[in-house]
This record gives sequence, C-alpha cells and structure tokens, in this order.
Amino acid sequence: MKRVLIAGAAGFLGSHLCDRFIKEGYSVVGMDNLLTGNLKNIEHLFPLPQFEYYHHDVSKFVHVPGKLDYILHFASPASPIDYLKMPIQTLKVGSLGTHNLLGLAKEKGARILVASTSEVYGDPTVHPQTEEYWGNVNPIGPRGVYDEAKRFMESITMAYHNFHGVETRIIRIFNTYGPRMRLNDGRALPAFMSQALTGQDLTVFGDGSQTRSFCYVSDLVDGIYRLLLSDYHLPVNIGNPVEISLLEFAEEIIKLTGSKQKIIFQALPKDDPKQRKPDITKAQELLGWSPKIDRAEGLKITYDYFKEALNK
Ligand SMILES: NC(=O)c1ccc[n+]([C@@H]2O[C@H](COP(=O)([O-])OP(=O)(O)OC[C@H]3O[C@@H](n4cnc5c(N)ncnc54)[C@H](O)[C@@H]3O)[C@@H](O)[C@H]2O)c1
Repeated sequence: MKRVLIAGAAGFLGSHLCDRFIKEGYSVVGMDNLLTGNLKNIEHLFPLPQFEYYHHDVSKFVHVPGKLDYILHFASPASPIDYLKMPIQTLKVGSLGTHNLLGLAKEKGARILVASTSEVYGDPTVHPQTEEYWGNVNPIGPRGVYDEAKRFMESITMAYHNFHGVETRIIRIFNTYGPRMRLNDGRALPAFMSQALTGQDLTVFGDGSQTRSFCYVSDLVDGIYRLLLSDYHLPVNIGNPVEISLLEFAEEIIKLTGSKQKIIFQALPKDDPKQRKPDITKAQELLGWSPKIDRAEGLKITYDYFKEALNK
C-alpha cells in the first residue's frame, strides 16, 4: 500500500485530497495545526485504519515515522482575510514549511507536490495566464505575504529538484470552490452565499467588472492526482477557464438562492487583480485533464452544503 502525507489535511482542499487518496487505496497521513482548518472536515476518516492524523505545525521540523511515497503540501492560510490576519505564519509556512517538507521528501525518497497559486501571477498583464508568464506582483503590498511566499515555494522546490534530485511537482491552483469552504473566509463565493442566505445585501468590490474563473473542487482534486502521478516537474495551471465578472457572479448567486437582497458596491481592496483566467493547454495536453463540472452544477452542490452548514 502506498503511503501519502497530506499537510493541511483539515482544510478545504486537504480534506478532499484525503478522501480521494483513501478512495484510491492509499494509506493517508493527515497533518495540520488547525490554524484555519477544522477537524470536522476529516472526522469521518478517523475510524479508518488506513488514516492517521498528526497535529503539527509544518513550519517547525517535521518527523513522520515509516515510509512515505508521496507528500502533498497544502498547508497555508489561503484566503485574503486569513493571510492578512496572519502575515508571518503565511510567510513561514510557504518558506520554512516548504523547506521542511522538501527535506522530508529527500530523506524518505518521496515525491512531493506543492500547492502554488494563480496569485504568483499577481495582477497579470498577460491574459489568459500561461505558465511561462512571470507575473506582476507587488512584494510589499498587502497580498505580498501570500504571493511571495508561494513564489519562494516554487523557487525552493525547483532548487531541491535541480540540486538534490528530489522528485517534485508544482501546481498553480486558480480559484476553487465547493463543500467545506468556510462561510466566513472572505473569498467571493462564500461571502456572496452567506450574505444571500442570511438576508444581507451582497457586497461587490469596485464596479464588479473584475473577472475570476471558478473551478469545482472534484475537478481540481482530479488534476492534482494526475499531476502527482505524471512525470512533469515544471508548474502546471489547474483551474476552470470559464471567466465571469464578479458582478455577474453575484447576480447568479442571487438567482440561485432566490434571495431578495440587493448588490451594494464597496471600495476595491488594494492590489485586487482585475482579471484571472488560466490557460490550461498544458494540463490538457500533458495530463489529459479538463474540468467536467460546470458552474451551475457546482454552485448547486455548494449552495446545498452552505444551507445545511448554516442550519447546524
Ligand atoms: N482554495 C483555493 O482556491 C486555492 C487557490 C490557490 C492555492 N490554494 C492553496 O491550496 C492550499 C489549501 O488551501 P485551502 O483553500 O484548502 O485553505 P484552508 O485554509 O481551508 O486549508 C489550509 C490548511 O492548512 C492548515 N495550516 C496552515 N498553516 C499550517 C501549518 N503551519 N502547519 C500545518 N497546517 C497548517 C490550516 O489549518 C488548514 O487546515 C493552500 O496552500 C493554498 O495556498 C488554494
């Protein structure tokens, strides 16, 4: 049985990854310090003999007894609200945390996949974003703590690949949504949904013309799985290329939830990207991957999840 360590296991993406690897017949070691995650996301796995959980901060030295075949680094505050509140932890987990997990991969002879982000492109001047684009990031802006941590993550991962011969994979994840997102994490989708479900007006920043593209979580997890098992070590974008303005998106959520609320406009946060859309040619050609769940279907599942979560 192959054994995989998933750092950030109690988070939104980490918990879905635990489910997928258990389903594929792996033995899974989940690791988390619960900075932004919740054990509720993985409590259904605790009775399984092939699941183990370690409460640990990966920015400190990481020790896992026994063999490891794969390591997935998904530990990091990920939403703007979280990383603005925890700038130092965000920088540490992207830098020291990545260093520690790369060291563990080297020690165990394991293959490691690190979760980078479309944020490495900053406020892009190239559209859609291909992996060859170097980005437009303000290192000292409010988002710099996250963006630069992830850019360092990519850099040190390549260094471990080139210098130590560690088998590495780098995924650049674009906005992903689905069940187990936190209602109050500040990202557009949970913010709109919780506002619509609790009778508040929906707040759109700026004039709402800025675009995003939203990938449903099972599609992303499938892309991660395929990339891990591929033999490609350079960064790969995974995301849904269907682009929508935030104003249209807010209108879609009002329609879906049958809410009577209005849309109100607030000042655009500093360095908010104007456009985001992945070029996924590489993922299509190298991994045979394309998103399968369209927005209407994904939003319906997510809405049902949020409705239930709010009623609990
Ligand atoms: N969700 C997205 O749309 C998206 C987009 C791009 C990149 N990512 C990346 O994917 C990863 C997971 O994001 P998410 O949306 O699931 O966020 P999340 O906040 O739900 O999950 C992150 C998890 O990491 C844990 N964590 C944070 N610091 C830690 C540390 N020092 N040691 C151990 N555990 C720690 C948290 O407690 C949490 O459980 C992050 O690295 C994020 O940067 C996510």
